[in-house]
Amino acid sequence: MSVTRIAVAGRKGGVGKTTISCGIASVFAHQKKRVLVLDLDPQSNAAFALGGDPTQPGTAELLLGQNPKPLIINDYLSVLPGGVELGSQGIQSCYAEDLADAVSPLPYEILIFDCPPGNEHLERLALFAAQSVLIVANAHPMAIMGAGRVHGELTTSQKKGRNSASRWAIVQSLIDKRRKLDKNLELVLKDLFPALEHLIVHQDTEMANATANQIPIMEHAPNCRGARDLQVIANWGTHG
Ligand SMILES: Nc1ncnc2c1ncn2[C@@H]1O[C@H](COP(=O)(O)OP(=O)(O)OP(=O)(O)O)[C@@H](O)[C@H]1O
Ligand SMILES: [Mg+2]
Repeated sequence: MSVTRIAVAGRKGGVGKTTISCGIASVFAHQKKRVLVLDLDPQSNAAFALGGDPTQPGTAELLLGQNPKPLIINDYLSVLPGGVELGSQGIQSCYAEDLADAVSPLPYEILIFDCPPGNEHLERLALFAAQSVLIVANAHPMAIMGAGRVHGELTTSQKKGRNSASRWAIVQSLIDKRRKLDKNLELVLKDLFPALEHLIVHQDTEMANATANQIPIMEHAPNCRGARDLQVIANWGTHG
């Protein structure tokens, strides 16, 4: 079975990585594809956002060779929580390819890796386990810098012939074009990353509400603007 593996990274905190990870997972589940979200963040936000218990064993235990049971959110959508164990010595000693190896027997059509902020080591595990990467930035200068760092990591890895993701796109996140910085972001990012596909997620209260109410976006507000943006991004993830 061919499995689509997508990492969502950005290096900067709070730019919308988890919202996009859980959002595209909900889109895939709505399309009746079996999808697993793997949270690589010690904050363990993804399970919470989808309505699961974020304290259950998850991605750390998988990396340590155990057999954690993914939390079932609905017929098609499951999640492996993050958690503080991701900061343990055992995980710090993992090789870049260890997550890729650990997920290879999992019976899903789509795997989505939600990367943490500011942790290159955990992020790298996802970049090596994925085929495609969504590099997320909002209009904050430090977020643009963070996206540049992820892009640098991927291009260096590719030049060295390493087995990390081979395809990536930029996602402009939390966009409200009434704001000048947001309006300029597209120009700035296209100038910095001219060869890449540029995708967009608008700021949408329904997206924040879905997370706060712990309901997958396609069950909460399937026709909202953010959900429509996520459908375009999910489509990019599966057509490469
Ligand atoms: N498109 C959006 N529209 C409205 N609110 C959003 C959107 N994307 C994210 N948010 C809100 O912004 C906040 C940060 O989002 P999120 O947790 O997805 O970011 P993150 O990059 O995963 O953060 P962290 O780096 O801490 O993991 C949350 O409160 C979320 O509900
Ligand atoms: Mg997050």
